[in-house]
Amino acid sequence: MLSSLADRVVVVTGATSGIGRAAALRFAAAGAKVVGTGRDQRRLADLAPHVDCALTLDVTDPEGVAMFAAAVVDRYGGVDVLVNNAGIGLFRGWETTDDDALRRVMDVNLFGPVALARALLPSLIARKGVLLQVASVAGKRGYAKHTAYCASKHALIGWSESLRHDLRGTGCDVVVVCPPAVRTPFFENAGYMTFDEDHPNLVPMTADAVADGIVAAAVERPRSVILSPRARALYALSVVAPGLLETIQRFKK
Ligand SMILES: NC(=O)c1ccc[n+]([C@@H]2O[C@H](COP(=O)([O-])OP(=O)(O)OC[C@H]3O[C@@H](n4cnc5c(N)ncnc54)[C@H](OP(=O)(O)O)[C@@H]3O)[C@@H](O)[C@H]2O)c1
Repeated sequence: MLSSLADRVVVVTGATSGIGRAAALRFAAAGAKVVGTGRDQRRLADLAPHVDCALTLDVTDPEGVAMFAAAVVDRYGGVDVLVNNAGIGLFRGWETTDDDALRRVMDVNLFGPVALARALLPSLIARKGVLLQVASVAGKRGYAKHTAYCASKHALIGWSESLRHDLRGTGCDVVVVCPPAVRTPFFENAGYMTFDEDHPNLVPMTADAVADGIVAAAVERPRSVILSPRARALYALSVVAPGLLETIQRFKK
């Protein structure tokens, strides 16, 4: 457990919007030196006054990731927490999700976090730090029109669960955080404009509530956490009675 976040060096990717921005602000309020990243220059400028450093980073650019990691380690001497949060969604049927679309989602949601982890793990290990992966409940079970997104988050969780074994004894922990639906521009950015209409009874979590969960997980270092009791109950049902859950979901349609 990290005894305190004060003066810890925390890198948050995708800190220009939604969950990442809320988490960056929470870590900063707890006294951490936060390095927040993103691509959108206007939103980076909005973030800059609230964090130690706001840097441009496209997680799908391997050279950019390597340069970013070297610059952060050079400036701060190391990293205590990496929050791999940057991600995109894709919500359409399998027929219209071709390999290019699948690869785009995998590039951001799997290969991006993997590249950052690889680049910063030597430092995280040296500091007995935390690699915190923002996955999703869509990394724990399947959903309609989610083939690419579910594949990317399942893969991220599988990579992370295996990495935890490889890191045993180093003092560096791997923590997987799985939010359910969250009220951010995420679905709109994915071009899914009818999310609310399609889920009339769903109350999405707020980005602030997810950020609280992320900060708590960085301090307490659980192996994995599903945020929200409803999502935990549905996941438990999907494990013990997957057929029953699918039947319930069919009736709800
Ligand atoms: N919202 C939900 O319902 C939900 C539920 C479960 C899990 N999640 C996960 O939570 C994470 C954050 O999502 P969010 O809801 O906060 O979405 P969001 O508001 O759309 O924010 C996504 C962030 O990722 C960044 N990003 C996207 N592509 C990038 C790239 N190639 N390189 C670097 N940064 C990139 C964006 O920054 P720029 O545009 O500035 O690059 C932005 O800061 C994602 O991993 C998502 O899968 C979201």
